[in-house]
Amino acid sequence: MGRISVIGAGLMGHGIAQVFAAHGHAVSLMDVEQSCLERALTNIRESLALLAEYDIVRSEDRDVIIDRITTTTSLQEAAAGADFVIEAVSERPDLKRSIFRELDALCLPRTILATNTSVISITEIARDAASRERVVGTHFWNPPQLIPLVEVIPGRDSAPWAIDRAYDLLRSVGKHPVRVKKDAPGFVGNRMQHALWREAISIVERGIADAETVDEVVKMGFGLRLPVLGSLENADMVGLDLTLHIHDYILRHIEDSHEPSRLLKEKVERGELGFASGRGLKEWTPQKMGACRAGLQRHLMEWGSR
Ligand SMILES: NC(=O)c1ccc[n+]([C@@H]2O[C@H](COP(=O)([O-])OP(=O)(O)OC[C@H]3O[C@@H](n4cnc5c(N)ncnc54)[C@H](O)[C@@H]3O)[C@@H](O)[C@H]2O)c1
Repeated sequence: MGRISVIGAGLMGHGIAQVFAAHGHAVSLMDVEQSCLERALTNIRESLALLAEYDIVRSEDRDVIIDRITTTTSLQEAAAGADFVIEAVSERPDLKRSIFRELDALCLPRTILATNTSVISITEIARDAASRERVVGTHFWNPPQLIPLVEVIPGRDSAPWAIDRAYDLLRSVGKHPVRVKKDAPGFVGNRMQHALWREAISIVERGIADAETVDEVVKMGFGLRLPVLGSLENADMVGLDLTLHIHDYILRHIEDSHEPSRLLKEKVERGELGFASGRGLKEWTPQKMGACRAGLQRHLMEWGSR
């Protein structure tokens, strides 16, 4: 499997392009905005420099990696000769559906077409493509250069050979792919992550604790176990009888709304968007944001260089 095309050169697309280029693949990176392509190459250069500082990438390999990436604003050019295409455009079902319809018409019959959607059903994204058997989900996590997990998800019509080829390719570039058995919005990771965020926001909304306390509970408490103990391992460790007793009492008290919370909607209406506006669920000064980003980066780099 040789030539990779990445459609959409934003936050995820540039990192995904970097992963494949760093493992010897020729990569065509496509975006509708020339400025996004230029920013993507700058971001890749900066990321490689940082990875070299932590000995995750060899310093002398950086130029070779960059030279493997070509950029284009033409979908047709990106599709030509591609063996594997990964779409990472904005999270809009209509946009993704039309891109897959076009890619299906433009690509060679052997080409696998993958989407990096965070939550949208793969079946829905593949709906307008004629050869839906080759459309699969490959959900990377941000930053894709450092987080090993990629969820591989079948759509209703995905062929087993397409899933196997996606899985094998991801393994060959050092990722940790997992096979999701069936197409369900949010797949595995985002179903779990957003169940936790819904509860965290609800705790603040109900006045049970403030935002600082909620995050302290995660970071100084159960969050410390998560890198080494999965949720189901944890349930087995404490015992399923205890888990049953706890669920029997607590489930009726925790958030089960099917709508985004009122607090969240009000904040967005007021323009309180988080880092972007300096205020969200917490207050953010430039110093606090810098410290938060630097802490995450250091943590992921140290993990990646183990
Ligand atoms: N941001 C995350 O943490 C994250 C994590 C996992 C998955 N995802 C998913 O990855 C995808 C991309 O997210 P992102 O955060 O990189 O978004 P982004 O906004 O940073 O980048 C999207 C890019 O797509 C480009 N684009 C828009 N229309 C296009 C078109 N028709 N053809 C080509 N390019 C087009 C935009 O110019 C932009 O550069 C989304 O589906 C998102 O849900 C995001």
